[in-house]
Amino acid sequence: MQDFLTQLPNVELHLHIEGSLEPELMFALAERNHMTLPYATIAEAKAAYHFHDLQGFLDIYFQGMTVLQTEQDFYDLAMDYFKRARAEGVVHIDMHFDPQAHLQRGVPLEVVMAGLLRAKKDAEASLDLSVGMIMAFLRDRPADEALDVLEQAAPYWTFLDAIGLDSAERGNPPEKFQALFARAKALGLVRVAHAGEEGPADYIEQALDLLDVQRIDHGVRCLESDALVQRLRESQTVLTVCPLSNVSLKVVDHLRDHPLPKLLAEQLNVTISSDDPAYFGGGLLANHLACAEAFGWDEAVFRRLTRNAIEEAFMGEDRRQQLL
Ligand code: ADE
Ligand code: ZN
Repeated sequence: MQDFLTQLPNVELHLHIEGSLEPELMFALAERNHMTLPYATIAEAKAAYHFHDLQGFLDIYFQGMTVLQTEQDFYDLAMDYFKRARAEGVVHIDMHFDPQAHLQRGVPLEVVMAGLLRAKKDAEASLDLSVGMIMAFLRDRPADEALDVLEQAAPYWTFLDAIGLDSAERGNPPEKFQALFARAKALGLVRVAHAGEEGPADYIEQALDLLDVQRIDHGVRCLESDALVQRLRESQTVLTVCPLSNVSLKVVDHLRDHPLPKLLAEQLNVTISSDDPAYFGGGLLANHLACAEAFGWDEAVFRRLTRNAIEEAFMGEDRRQQLL
């Protein structure tokens, strides 16, 4: 099964590049930037990666990314992941990144963008890997701040494929970001949003109705509303489901309890992604292998999921046709 999965044209639609920061690189960057980490060893860092919920993870995630200071740090972060993913058979990644998390720490947007865009360019030239760029906004920060950052990003609009919405979901409904998403739409940017990870099915409906999103990141709680399931089946809106993430963040107790088989049985447009591979137990291959074991999926299921992702990815039409 592993050989079969690795030779598929794997596409990952939901990946936070800051969540790909492996402890080994975290320690190397901390040393390069003369910083002290709250962990004495790599093993100690890994031991801290046990989460009760999304917020518990986010605290560790934001702490981990403080080692990212220079353009080279962002380049190394992205390139490190691109090479690892490529070795597992990934041919395209739609990459979320969190500019506010870096601006807040005094790291200029130019530093973040220069490092990530250089890594994208080099990966596309040398790794046969294409990369989509999703500028994500932190939903637990003020909506005005997000709008300011989008305006500040004007020199980079042309390099963005979409904007996204992430971070602490509960209590931060999509409706809070209507002005931001309207502005992005006016700029011709595609919109995606995390919804229905920890938040209720109603947040998925809000993301569709008020933010006009093209895809829903996670979306697993859609099953709590029959009407929403019917709507998602009819619209074939893509859900970027992240099984190992959902287990790590206790969205489900065990992978065997995950709603993925039900989502497929409902004929929804499901894709699989790794979310934050450094924190949740691995990349796309680890997620695929875990699903194969938990659900007994055969090759046909993975071909279907891979096709769904290729059809949705932010890539050129020539490349899409080549991969399909
Ligand atoms: N940021 C990084 N990973 C996230 C997740 N799983 N949910 C919300 N925001 C995130
Ligand atoms: Zn995510």
